[in-house]
Amino acid sequence: MKAQVELGRKLFFDRRLAFNNTNSCAMCHIESQGLTSNQSARAIGMEGRSLSRNAPALYNVAYQDTLFHDGRESDLAQQAWAPLLSPLEMANPSIGHVVDKIRSFEDYRGLFEAVFDGHGPSMQTIGDALASYQRTLLSGNSRFDKWYYGKQDDALNADEKAGFEVFMGKGQCATCHTVGEKSALFTDHKFYVTGIGYYNAIGAGSRVAKVELAPGYFIDMKYEDMKSFSAPRINDIGRFAVTLDAKDRWAYKTPSLRNIELTYPYMHDGSLSTLEDVVAFYDKGGLEHDGERALQPLHLAEKEKADLVAFLRTLTTAEDQAKHEGYR
Ligand code: HEC
Ligand code: HEC
Repeated sequence: MKAQVELGRKLFFDRRLAFNNTNSCAMCHIESQGLTSNQSARAIGMEGRSLSRNAPALYNVAYQDTLFHDGRESDLAQQAWAPLLSPLEMANPSIGHVVDKIRSFEDYRGLFEAVFDGHGPSMQTIGDALASYQRTLLSGNSRFDKWYYGKQDDALNADEKAGFEVFMGKGQCATCHTVGEKSALFTDHKFYVTGIGYYNAIGAGSRVAKVELAPGYFIDMKYEDMKSFSAPRINDIGRFAVTLDAKDRWAYKTPSLRNIELTYPYMHDGSLSTLEDVVAFYDKGGLEHDGERALQPLHLAEKEKADLVAFLRTLTTAEDQAKHEGYR
């Protein structure tokens, strides 16, 4: 199993898997940036083209019921072929092209055969190896876990504990970002309309996004102005694309909140850049949209908002924080 994980890791970091040899999985899901890309709201792919969505952090991806912001895939081994073949991402013309290319690499000679019972690179084994590696991207032992599950009372301070009360109670966060009896993935694996998708499609002209120019240095930029250097947005309709059910129009998957302080920017389009922005967003009840509202205004006091942010920061594990230090 260890050899299979190592083979998967080699593939994950291998830029030659892109058609023009310049892009790897690890360049959008960056180890030192929370397994996402901290510098781009929407991932940057082939030849600098922007994708329509933010790269999700891959922590605990093994436990996701469905994959992608709209949940259109469910199997990690199959999912990998989407970026490999997407013209915006790794831009390979076919599965066979990738398989033949890997077969031609000296440094892969015998590696697949050794871990897959004599079978060489194929659609299945390449997917399986990548999946094995991604299943090792686990994150669980945060200060929150030590306090809540480990009963270590001093693992959180008073503000952080107060923030947890807001998370479970007045903020209603845990109705979707679930906390279980024995463990917490902070997602119910369901899809909701928070208004962001609707806003982008219907009235976003003057919306402002924070863009990080250098680590820690943000400027405000209007979406209008970003058009000059971003590819046009394709109309992103969320979960509707999978179910064709009108109530799923602009619904997106509840993401996990593990290591959330490291995985900015937030939401499926990366339009919120700090945890303070996210809490302010929920306090207002999300963005206006038609149809049934999943979110209502919360009327949190300033102290409650600050405590909630402090609590969210307790979901970071020391190990993942250390990997992020290199970037900060
Ligand atoms: C150009 C940037 C880019 C590259 C390269 C890339 N990804 Fe992604 N990845 C994304 C984006 C953006 C999404 C979300 C897309 C969506 O929801 O439609 C995503 C989604 C995912 C997901 C789903 C996670 C979840 O929680 O739903 C997995 C798993 C994943 N990528 C693994 C990979 C693997 C494996 C590779 C290499 C074969 C790869 N990615 C290459 C940007 C990238
Ligand atoms: C009705 C379900 C629901 C409730 C209640 C809810 N969330 Fe969310 N949360 C979501 C969904 C769905 C998304 C993804 C939205 C998107 O991608 O556009 C999300 C995204 C987030 C993100 C960004 C995660 C990322 O990786 O981009 C954070 C942080 C977050 N929520 C925190 C909270 C907090 C704090 C509360 C309570 C104040 C809360 N949520 C209440 C469903 C919910």
